[in-house]
Amino acid sequence: MGPGLLGQLRDYAADDREGHQACLRCHAPLAEQADALVAELAGKDPEGRGLHRQGLVCAGCHVRQHTRYGPPRRDGSTPQPGETLPHAGWQSTPAFQDARFCGACHQFDDDGYALEGKLLENTFTEWQASRYAREGVTCQNCHMPDRQHLWRGIHDAETTRQGVTIEPLGLTVDGNGINSGLVVRNTGTGHHFPTYLTPRIVFEAFQVDADGQEIADTRVEWWIARAVALDLSQELFDSRIPVDEEMELAYAMPRTAGTMALQMQLRVEPDAFYTDFYRSVLESGNVSGFAMVELEEALSASLASHYTLYETRLALPR
Ligand code: HEC
Ligand code: HEC
Ligand code: HEC
Ligand code: HEC
Repeated sequence: MGPGLLGQLRDYAADDREGHQACLRCHAPLAEQADALVAELAGKDPEGRGLHRQGLVCAGCHVRQHTRYGPPRRDGSTPQPGETLPHAGWQSTPAFQDARFCGACHQFDDDGYALEGKLLENTFTEWQASRYAREGVTCQNCHMPDRQHLWRGIHDAETTRQGVTIEPLGLTVDGNGINSGLVVRNTGTGHHFPTYLTPRIVFEAFQVDADGQEIADTRVEWWIARAVALDLSQELFDSRIPVDEEMELAYAMPRTAGTMALQMQLRVEPDAFYTDFYRSVLESGNVSGFAMVELEEALSASLASHYTLYETRLALPR
């Protein structure tokens, strides 16, 4: 449970358990965590040591009614009578290998909040419509390889690189100026690239001089994102790339005196929506105390997660 989540939960009254569940059902789903959050909001846990602070813990996925559940053994064997196992063994169920297991938190129900006819969280449906579902490649196959509990996604540059193929378009320089760009193909992401409305992939292209410095007024910028208003009242545009589709990010500008090369790059801002959201809440002046400290911390964390996915510099003919 990061500071961005806790900072927002402080808006709820300490005893508003139903309100808390709007977030806890995915972020900290245990009954014990619901109690721990109530205690902290009521000022009974000033140091914030409750179990809710740990977010989605093992038991949230593996324990129901004091029984441990998990996937079948890798080799298909089952425990033999008399075999002693820690915590009296576990209840094996294929549910753990099913994409619907992840859909419980990564897909809104059909009657959930939608914009332009698309649910705000729609990852399972995107996956289901793709060839990965038909080929039996599940969320677990990509996000928990060899059953490792990694869950790497858009925050990890290596994972994101494996999900796309990026190539420069040909470069032409003539009387019309400089024309080029990048083609981005979704070749390895099991849903839209990216699936959520929170990240933003920013294409930036500009001309550089002999010292490698950007030349003013030569910049072009495009976003790959599902951009929505901060209050979620409307979708501004949706340029995400569905599975196996591609997108052309074009550069077309007059050539400027002193231009030596064209620089093109893709920057990933995994928490772009949150950055804008935290800024607007902090600027509103309606926030104080713990919530303000937490949202400031969350704002810096959202800025610190940026990385460069791809860059290339094409030399221009003299
Ligand atoms: C249906 C499940 C679900 C519900 C309900 C939910 N979230 Fe999330 N939330 C997610 C997932 C999944 C992510 C990860 C998205 C990503 O990183 O791309 C996330 C990410 C976040 C993040 C950014 C990561 C972090 O920890 O800082 C914040 C902040 C957040 N949620 C706040 C909330 C708040 C506040 C609520 C309640 C009003 C809420 N969420 C309700 C599933 C949910
Ligand atoms: C978000 C849900 C989730 C959380 C949280 C989670 N697990 Fe799992 N766990 C799974 C899934 C799903 C699988 C099966 C993956 C597969 O079969 O590809 C699994 C598999 C396992 C296995 C079997 C591994 C094997 O090699 O056969 C063990 C043991 C396990 N988890 C323990 C833990 C422990 C301990 C924690 C906490 C540190 C934990 N899990 C947290 C979902 C979760
Ligand atoms: C109980 C709810 C829950 C379940 C079940 C669950 N997740 Fe998540 N998942 C979350 C939340 C909440 C986050 C965001 C954590 C954060 O950043 O604070 C998250 C984050 C992620 C991320 C990281 C996203 C990013 O932005 O980097 C990936 C990938 C992911 N989950 C995949 C899976 C897969 C695959 C499964 C099924 C095996 C699964 N999840 C099951 C709640 C869940
Ligand atoms: C073929 C591999 C593959 C499959 C299958 C797959 N993913 Fe992903 N996923 C990726 C890659 C690559 C990324 C990083 C690029 C991106 O964010 O789109 C990613 C990113 C994510 C993220 C980060 C947030 C975001 O906005 O992109 C979440 C959450 C996630 N996946 C959940 C899931 C769930 C849930 C499923 C199953 C319904 C699933 N994934 C199936 C490859 C896969």
